[in-house]
Amino acid sequence: MKRWIGPLAGFIACGLLVPGASAQSKGEVVVYCSVLNEWCLAASQAFERKTGVKVILNVKGSGEVGAQLRAEASNPRADVWWGGTGDPHLAAAEADLTVAYKPAALGELHPWAVKQWEQSGGKTIGIYAGVLGFTWNTELIASKKLQAPKCWADLTRAEFRDEIQMSNPSSSGTAYTALATLIQVMGEDKAFGYLKGLHRNISQYTRSGPAPVRNAARAETMIGIIFLHDAVAEANEGFPLATAAPCEGTGYEIGSMSLVKGGRNPDNAKLWYEWSLSAEAQSLAKENKSFQVPSNRSAAAHPKAPRLEDIKLVDYDFAKYGSSEERKRIVSRWEQEVGMLPK
Ligand code: F6P
Repeated sequence: MKRWIGPLAGFIACGLLVPGASAQSKGEVVVYCSVLNEWCLAASQAFERKTGVKVILNVKGSGEVGAQLRAEASNPRADVWWGGTGDPHLAAAEADLTVAYKPAALGELHPWAVKQWEQSGGKTIGIYAGVLGFTWNTELIASKKLQAPKCWADLTRAEFRDEIQMSNPSSSGTAYTALATLIQVMGEDKAFGYLKGLHRNISQYTRSGPAPVRNAARAETMIGIIFLHDAVAEANEGFPLATAAPCEGTGYEIGSMSLVKGGRNPDNAKLWYEWSLSAEAQSLAKENKSFQVPSNRSAAAHPKAPRLEDIKLVDYDFAKYGSSEERKRIVSRWEQEVGMLPK
């Protein structure tokens, strides 16, 4: 999960053009990618092989790409924003940073993916879904003779002081999903009270959402608040991780894709868009540590992928939590009331 190793400096050109297809003949596409680095690279390479179009990748968290698109609005550098939680994609749609497009594969997608598209006036579409929850290092928790957390309420127990990591909601879509989820589970003021209590037990707010999974896998933290699929994928690699979906109910993401307004390669961007909705492209995820539920109904998920229907989910209000205004308001409330608190 290389996205954790640190920000990738600048852009990566994949450079795996098919023989005989030059960048000059097929051109390029600039993809801002907010899934794990492994999947970003595998998808880019497969797309290059298929189309001969050169992919310029920039891998960053969802909140960071949202901010970057706003900063670049007068001179856009990206063509496609691929992956990352759906809320900031909806906020980008509302801010007119992305454009509407109707893909040929619309009828092949799960209803939740189509709903994301409809809700945004066709400006963003679901490419996968994933559920929020906890992971813990089974060896660390056993060595301290502690009970694993099963509910949101468990995370504020005194014995977990400095044992938990979550990401920072201003850079990470995972943490934003956690904020929005807690508000929907508890009501806003109670959720902020809870987050203040949780703050005592947080050792670090990481920049990227999947980082606490890697840190728990390597015993650098006992517990992480994360998307379950990232932890299940890491456990599948042999790390001592277990997971739980919170007993009170939890939220989920509709990982999304958007075409950037004013991108310099609109035709290649549409090629990417169409290709990445195909069952063939989406089936690549499971081989690249990405165990989300794919949005194409015919794409194969990993057999261990957490299933939405098995988990107590909140009726996540994507329209509300995908609005830029609401996003700004709750992230800045978190920064002022929680993030800045001393420990
Ligand atoms: O698997 C990677 C992943 O968890 C995606 O499912 C999710 O959309 C993304 O990372 C969120 O990353 P971040 O929290 O850094 O924006």
